[in-house]
Amino acid sequence: MAEGNLILDEIVRRRSGRAFSSRPIERDKVHSILEAGRWAPSCSNTQAWQYIVIQEHEDLAKAHDALSRGNAWGKNAPLMVVVAAAEDGGCPAHNLPYFMMDVGLTVQNMLIQAVHVGLMGHPTAGWDEHKLKEILAIPESYRIVTVVFFGYEGNIEDLDERTREKEKKRSSRRPLEEIVHWEKW
Ligand SMILES: Cc1cc2nc3c(=O)[nH]c(=O)nc-3n(C[C@H](O)[C@H](O)[C@H](O)COP(=O)(O)O)c2cc1C
Repeated sequence: MAEGNLILDEIVRRRSGRAFSSRPIERDKVHSILEAGRWAPSCSNTQAWQYIVIQEHEDLAKAHDALSRGNAWGKNAPLMVVVAAAEDGGCPAHNLPYFMMDVGLTVQNMLIQAVHVGLMGHPTAGWDEHKLKEILAIPESYRIVTVVFFGYEGNIEDLDERTREKEKKRSSRRPLEEIVHWEKW
C-alpha cells in the first residue's frame, strides 16, 4: 500500500478489518491503547474526549443492540471503545467544531497503538446514537463521535458472505498528486 521505507510500519499495517477473534485482550495492552489516546494533541489542550470502555460480556451484549446491521461483525470484538465529546467542549476557534478533530486525533493514536501491540482496531459510525447513549448512560450534552472495535485478528471464513466480500477488497487511497498543492492551490 504505502511506498517508501520511512513511513512508520504501524501506519502501513493498520487497516479496518472485520474478522475479529474473541480472544481476550491483555489488560496492559488495553491500557496502552487508552494511554496512547490520552496523549493525542488537541486544540488549546482541551482534550474534549471521553472513552467508555466496554469489555464485560453482558455489557457488550447490551451495547451490540445499538449496532447497525452492516456492523454486526463488531459483535465478535472483545473490546469496544465508545468515544464521546461535548459539542462545546473543544476549542471555540474559527467557528469550527474542533472537538471532532480532537476526537479524530485521539482515535488515530489508539489505532496505531493497537497495531503496535499486535491488535486490530476498526472505527465506526454505524450505530444508533440515541439508543447507545441510553444503554451507556452517557449525559445528554455529549455526542458519540465513534465506536471503535479492538481485538486480535480472527478468521475471515467465520464472517457472513457479504462481510467476507467487503473484507477481501484492498483499501486504496487517492494519489498524492490529487491532494497535495505545493506552495499554492
Ligand atoms: C469516522 C469513521 C466511520 C467509519 N464507519 C464505519 C462503519 O460504520 N462500518 C465499517 O465497516 N467501517 C467504517 N469505517 C472504516 C472505513 O470504512 C475505513 O477506514 C476506510 O474504508 C479505509 O479503510 P482502512 O481503514 O482499512 O484503510 C469508518 C471509518 C471512520 C474513520
